[in-house]
Amino acid sequence: MNKVALVTGSSSGIGYETSLSLAREGYFTYATMRDVKKGDTIKKVAEDESLPLKVIELDVDNENSVEKAIKSIIDEKQRIDVLVNNAGWGIWGTAEDVSVEEFREQFETNFFSIVRIIQKIAPIMREQGTGDIINISSIAGRIGFPVSTAYISSKFALEGLSESLRYELGEFGVNVIIIEPGVIKTNFFDSMKTAEKANESDVYKEITEKVISGVKMMAEMGTPPIEVASVIIKSLKEEKPLPRYVVGNDATMFLEAKKMKTDIEFENYLKKELYGE
Ligand SMILES: NC(=O)c1ccc[n+]([C@@H]2O[C@H](COP(=O)([O-])OP(=O)(O)OC[C@H]3O[C@@H](n4cnc5c(N)ncnc54)[C@H](OP(=O)(O)O)[C@@H]3O)[C@@H](O)[C@H]2O)c1
Repeated sequence: MNKVALVTGSSSGIGYETSLSLAREGYFTYATMRDVKKGDTIKKVAEDESLPLKVIELDVDNENSVEKAIKSIIDEKQRIDVLVNNAGWGIWGTAEDVSVEEFREQFETNFFSIVRIIQKIAPIMREQGTGDIINISSIAGRIGFPVSTAYISSKFALEGLSESLRYELGEFGVNVIIIEPGVIKTNFFDSMKTAEKANESDVYKEITEKVISGVKMMAEMGTPPIEVASVIIKSLKEEKPLPRYVVGNDATMFLEAKKMKTDIEFENYLKKELYGE
């Protein structure tokens, strides 16, 4: 019997590649997305390769949609072995420029939706006595930097959630694995929103422009999303998966530097790397 996987945000990028990689490994994969019209390409690839993959609708921000998707999977397969919490987006802006409402929207998708899905799927996995929950965090969940402050905060929150869950669910045979990609070449940066106030901000105009152009330059040379998918597959094959996996030379380099340097040295190093100061 195939193991069953659910991936959120499979319409593009990391979610798209991870869904196909899981299906190629023999998982019956539910490639979920909020707009199933975006599922034509993945369906075509799955058909051409005769992969066990099905596209279903799941908007992570919507309680009913989450419930409906999980119910349909349980009705069909009676189990969920792997959950990949991947759906996410980002917003440019400093802490002053991103309104509280915008912070909330950011946390809704990148953090609360994951709490919501885990609360529904953890009982299923506990009952099975087995399961893997993969949370797509980021290097931005380990290192703070300016002008993506709400996004970074949401990923730091996800790291705390994931570390705590490891103790809680580990007892029941459920692994929680954190994936920390560096800059990955996907639609992510093109889809980023900008805080309403950031467009009018004089105070933070210079740093905002510098950081956005610095990150966009890094994105040009980003790691392909298939590499994230490969690391996820590798983690699932380990008898005892590690708590976290870093993906990309950039992420490895930043984390090494963080380990070796004092906090102040690291801040100065990151300013140079990010916007040449
Ligand atoms: N790209 C990077 O450099 C990078 C680095 C580290 C971590 N990450 C993380 O990797 C994850 C995937 O991003 P990506 O790089 O693959 O970018 P992407 O190509 O823009 O994919 C993001 C996916 O999330 C989906 N999504 C957004 N809001 C959703 C919602 N409410 N319900 C369901 N799906 C939703 C998008 O769906 P739509 O097509 O409908 O918008 C899309 O499928 C994110 O969590 C991101 O934070 C990315």
